[in-house]
Amino acid sequence: MTRAMSSGTYLVANKNATADASESYRTLRTNIRFSTMGRSSKVLLVTSASGQEGKTTTATNLAVSYAQENKKVLLIDGDLRSPSLQEVFPRSNKKGLTDILSGQSQWEEAVSTTAISNLFVLTAGTVPPNPSEILGSDQMQQLLNQMSVYYDVILIDSPAALDVSDAQILGTMSDGVVLVAHQGKVTKDQLKRVKRSMEHVNAHILGVVLNKA
Ligand SMILES: Nc1ncnc2c1ncn2[C@@H]1O[C@H](COP(=O)(O)OP(=O)(O)OP(=O)(O)O)[C@@H](O)[C@H]1O
Ligand SMILES: [Mg+2]
Repeated sequence: MTRAMSSGTYLVANKNATADASESYRTLRTNIRFSTMGRSSKVLLVTSASGQEGKTTTATNLAVSYAQENKKVLLIDGDLRSPSLQEVFPRSNKKGLTDILSGQSQWEEAVSTTAISNLFVLTAGTVPPNPSEILGSDQMQQLLNQMSVYYDVILIDSPAALDVSDAQILGTMSDGVVLVAHQGKVTKDQLKRVKRSMEHVNAHILGVVLNKA
């Protein structure tokens, strides 16, 4: 779908690091708009077949790109096993998604602002013993429904789709799935397996982002 340019950092879209990198995320944003024409495209899941393919980088920069388009954006860390948004946007991870779902926090207090206007972040929160169960809970679906009223776009970062079922579970709650592929690392067979697993739960893959191309 789109080729993400090398940057070496997470946040390229908000720096003038490379104009090409920002441009490639704008192109991705545009491609998503056309892939979802006529359908809801508010909740988007970002995943990949295996680890370290660029899910977090893509989710972050896509979120910045939407915020720059004056959309009110919420970026959620759905990688409860190995969360990283608290490092991308340095902040405490004391109150996050899992703390809301376990009733320890309200989402209004757990979501935080960032240096980028229109961009809000919800970190993963306390690492739970049962991530898949927590993500698949009715509370998670209800939370997304509630937050959908307040944000124009909700982007969810996730663990690798072939490692655990978390991405598949989140796929069922999303309007579309952006599949990030590290060219040269992931095989066609792995991509097909992710595609099948998403189709199995009626999740809609919007396209593949060739990262680190
Ligand atoms: N387009 C790119 N150009 C250069 N480096 C990149 C690019 N995309 C990602 N990276 C780097 O590759 C590493 C892995 O990226 P990232 O954390 O986004 O992947 P991930 O799929 O979220 O990994 P994990 O499975 O561990 O969550 C990071 O160090 C990141 O800075
Ligand atoms: Mg990640």
